Amino acid sequence: MTSVKSVFTPVEADLQALTENLKKLVGARHPILYAAAEHLFGAGGKRLRPAIVLLVARATMPDEEITPRHRRLAEITEMIHTASLVHDDVLDEADIRRGIETVHSRFTNRVAVLAGDFLFAQSSWYLANLDNLEVVKLLSQVIMDLAEGEIQQGLNAFETDFSIEAYLEKSYYKTASLLANSARAAGVLSDAPMATCERLYVYGRNLGLAFQIVDDILDFTASDEVLGKPAGSDLASGNLTAPTLFAMQEYPQLIDLIATEFEDPADLAAALSLVRNSTGIAKSRELAKHHAQLALAQIADLPPSTSLQALLDLTDYVLKRLY
Ligand code: IPE
Ligand code: IPE
Ligand code: MG
Ligand code: MG
Repeated sequence: MTSVKSVFTPVEADLQALTENLKKLVGARHPILYAAAEHLFGAGGKRLRPAIVLLVARATMPDEEITPRHRRLAEITEMIHTASLVHDDVLDEADIRRGIETVHSRFTNRVAVLAGDFLFAQSSWYLANLDNLEVVKLLSQVIMDLAEGEIQQGLNAFETDFSIEAYLEKSYYKTASLLANSARAAGVLSDAPMATCERLYVYGRNLGLAFQIVDDILDFTASDEVLGKPAGSDLASGNLTAPTLFAMQEYPQLIDLIATEFEDPADLAAALSLVRNSTGIAKSRELAKHHAQLALAQIADLPPSTSLQALLDLTDYVLKRLY
């Protein structure tokens, strides 16, 4: 099993510095918001997005040290990601995240909404201070896309006509946009050629889609303990993800079960078991693999370096990860 730690080896020291810096960046002006933000930063997480930024930075400037701007961009991506998780957990009414209580459970919904806003606002401030209009545009688009993704997901709850195409579009907004645009922005900060930046974007987009599809599979196949967040919750809340969408083609009775919106817990149990025993899981794996391969192909011919190798290995890691 490719562990995330071994994939991140070329940027391990950078990531440790980032963890310390994130807490400082939040600032102590509002003690309650600081406590709320620090709560999640302190719990860790995989730090996939900053790792990608740092790896792209190193892969696109193989003979030079990465710049403070690259480091700041990495911090900004983790801030944006964390803000989106704080809000997502309010919407999903989730109790645990990264193995600890969610911000809204530890504090209140009001604090979680404010803390998420506060992190988005701070990330925008640090972004503007990078003084690079192109990068500002790329990452501002991500913040718009995150809201679009959550809106599309909310509007389509329990919507059994939801297509795989619409699911992939929603997943781009919710997850892949951040990976795509931040990989591209890291290339922009390295002054990489435009064609390389475009390929980095497509790499991040496909890696992000594969990552979200696997997340959606794990929601059916893993446990709360392993995930550090509630398992089995997507279907219960009407979030029809790849495994369910494929399973509905195999077992049309799922459509009637979903239409009940699971007022009876027995219907939810029946639907979960249909999805888990369907070919939907294997078909979703194939879809994730397809996107991981598209990601791999985009960057395979960049100049060889240990960081490039890590970016290539990530396409395998996203498929094999267990949490
Ligand atoms: C969770 O992201 C949200 C999704 C896009 C599936 P991660 O799985 O990267 O969460 P952390 O940062 O490791 O907690
Ligand atoms: C990703 O989707 C959430 C965001 C990008 C905000 P999920 O809803 O699947 O994330 P988890 O499963 O709660 O981590
Ligand atoms: Mg969620
Ligand atoms: Mg999920």
